[in-house]
This record gives sequence, C-alpha cells and structure tokens, in this order.
Amino acid sequence: MNNDINMPSQFNGEEEIEKTLRPKKLTEFVGQKDVVEQLKVAIQATKERDEHLDHILLYGPPGLGKTTIAYIMAQELGVNIHITTGPALERKKDIASILSNLEEKDILLIDEIHRLNRSVEETLYPAMEDFALDIIIGQGPSAKTIRLDVPHFTLIGATTRAGMLTSPLRDRFGIINRLEFYNYEDLAKIIIRDSKVLNIEITDDAAKEIAKRSRGTPRIAIRLLKRVRDYAQVKGKGIIDFDITIFSLEKLKIDEKGLDNIDKRLLRIIAEKYNGGPVGLSTLAIALSEAKETLEDIYEPYLIQIGFIKRTQRGRVITREALRYLGYNPGKDPPRLF
Ligand SMILES: Nc1ncnc2c1ncn2[C@@H]1O[C@H](COP(=O)(O)OP(=O)(O)OP(=O)(O)O)[C@@H](O)[C@H]1O
Ligand SMILES: [Mg+2]
Repeated sequence: MNNDINMPSQFNGEEEIEKTLRPKKLTEFVGQKDVVEQLKVAIQATKERDEHLDHILLYGPPGLGKTTIAYIMAQELGVNIHITTGPALERKKDIASILSNLEEKDILLIDEIHRLNRSVEETLYPAMEDFALDIIIGQGPSAKTIRLDVPHFTLIGATTRAGMLTSPLRDRFGIINRLEFYNYEDLAKIIIRDSKVLNIEITDDAAKEIAKRSRGTPRIAIRLLKRVRDYAQVKGKGIIDFDITIFSLEKLKIDEKGLDNIDKRLLRIIAEKYNGGPVGLSTLAIALSEAKETLEDIYEPYLIQIGFIKRTQRGRVITREALRYLGYNPGKDPPRLF
C-alpha cells in the first residue's frame, strides 16, 4: 500500500527534498499562468510605489504550490518571510507578538488559515486593514483599549478550504487566487527540471508517464519521481526510461490515471455498497477507515476533477465513466462487473 503518495509532506518527512526542489523565482514556477501573471503585476506595482504588497489569499488542493508561491513572493520583493499556521495561533497574544516583531513590508504566511480561532481572527482584522493592534489594558470598568501600530506587512493566507473562511476575513484580502490542478505538460516540465536538480537522467516519455499519473499535483510528481529513481538505480540502468517507469509505477500500484488503492476502494464502495450513490462523505469515511478531512481534501478533489465522482445535495455519486473505468457495466442497476 502506498497511500502516503497522497499525504501532505509533514506526514512523511519528505520536506527536505521538497525544499531543495522548490522554485525560487517566479520565472522558475511552472504553470498556473493566470495566478503568476497577476502576482507579477502586483510585485512590479508594489516595487514601483515602494509600498507593502496587498494581502494575498491562496487556496486549492494540497501540493499545488501555495507555500512555494509565498516563498517566491518574499524572494522577489526582497523581504523576510515568517511562517505560522492557523492552529498554532491559540491566543490573541500569539498573533500580537508575531505582528509586533515584523519589519516593514515583511510577509507573514499563515497556513491553514481556515483554522484560526475567533479571537485571533478578530485581532487580525484591524492589523490587516489599519496596521494596528487593539490592546485592552486593565480589567472591569477601568479597562481601556489602546491602539498600537504594527509594521505594514503582507499577510499571505493559504488554505485547502476557502469555503470555511468567514467573509470578513476573506474580504480583507486584496488578491485572491485559486490554484488549479496542473496539466500533464506542465507536470512533465516540473519532472524534467527536478530530475536535473536531483542529477538523474530521464527520458521525455518517462517524464510524461510520471506526469500522467501524478494527479495534477507537483508534490505527487516529485514523490513518484523519487520512487522511480530508486527502482532505476536498483533494478534498471541508472537512468529513468519508459520501461523502468512503467515497472516501478506498477509495483507502486499507481494506475494510468494516478489512482491508488484507496481511490479504487472508495469508488468500489460507492458502486457496490451504495448502488452508485448518493452516499454521504461521513459514511464513506467510516467504510474506508479514513478521516473525513482526508477524503475531502486529498482524494475527492482529483476524482471530481477527472469526472469520476460528482458532489450532489444528497452525497457523492459515481459517474458512468468511472464505472466503465473500473470494469462495471454502467447500464445495470446496481452496477455489475462486466
Ligand atoms: N509550479 C511549480 N513548479 C515547480 N515545482 C512546484 C510547483 N508547485 C509546487 N512545486 C513543488 O511541489 C512541492 C509542494 O508545493 P507546496 O509545498 O508549495 O504546496 P502547498 O500548496 O503549499 O501544499 P499544502 O496545501 O500541503 O501546504 C514544492 O516543494 C515544490 O517543489
Ligand atoms: Mg503549504
């Protein structure tokens, strides 16, 4: 089983390699054309006016480059980047101390910004809007609010769940960008570039094959590349060619569409146990012994993207295309294997 291919990097200690492979400049960042274009303009305008950059919200499935973009923005603007996460900011004073330690124009990246608690979020409002912190001094009737200035900083909020952001928070971002899954060509470019950095030779058809099975996600492309590299070294000729790629991906149980065993079990459960759906996400999570959030953040977006499941009011439904792909006869109710 290799369900870790899909896991966020903090779960399997692959952060180091991701750091090495992270593009450092906007020109090295492959794909996401619209987002890159917008950010380029924002960077240039900000530099020309010698101001701080507007707050940016980046959202989209894991591994598509949100953190990478935050680092690139800091690099391009020549400012420091400070990184924290929504759940790490427990109290008002946590965010207050971070804000008061920033320098003018610094970037503050808050990952998982949808998980901020209410009092921290409310502290952020005046900080984002007026670059001020409202501090309450004293208690009871003699308590006073004083306003402290904080440096003009740029907040970059990153989230896989934009829908969970409150509208007052969302409204305070000047630039809101959704990252999309990458097409095969862009993923192949990333794979070829990363192979050079990792100092391993790869053929074009091998890069394309890995790209096709990477679920539109650079992080997964990097993981597959590393695994295939291991096979090439141990079982192959030391270069990544088409044959060793197919061999390794089969061993890793990653199919032609990049689906792994969990995806397939998920689809089969909808097909067989629930007659093709609709079935609620919580029910599916229990049937699969996976966390609901894992299904929602990691598995479902790609299956929806390739048209294998649909989200309806009453739950998830499997599509005819998916049934055909899995070898069911979609004309039968309930679905039967051909
Ligand atoms: N456009 C790109 N070009 C080249 N490499 C990329 C690109 N986007 C992402 N990567 C690679 O993929 C890895 C994962 O990207 P990143 O950590 O930025 O994703 P993320 O969106 O922040 O994910 P998460 O939601 O899990 O925090 C990076 O380390 C980087 O090497
Ligand atoms: Mg990230």
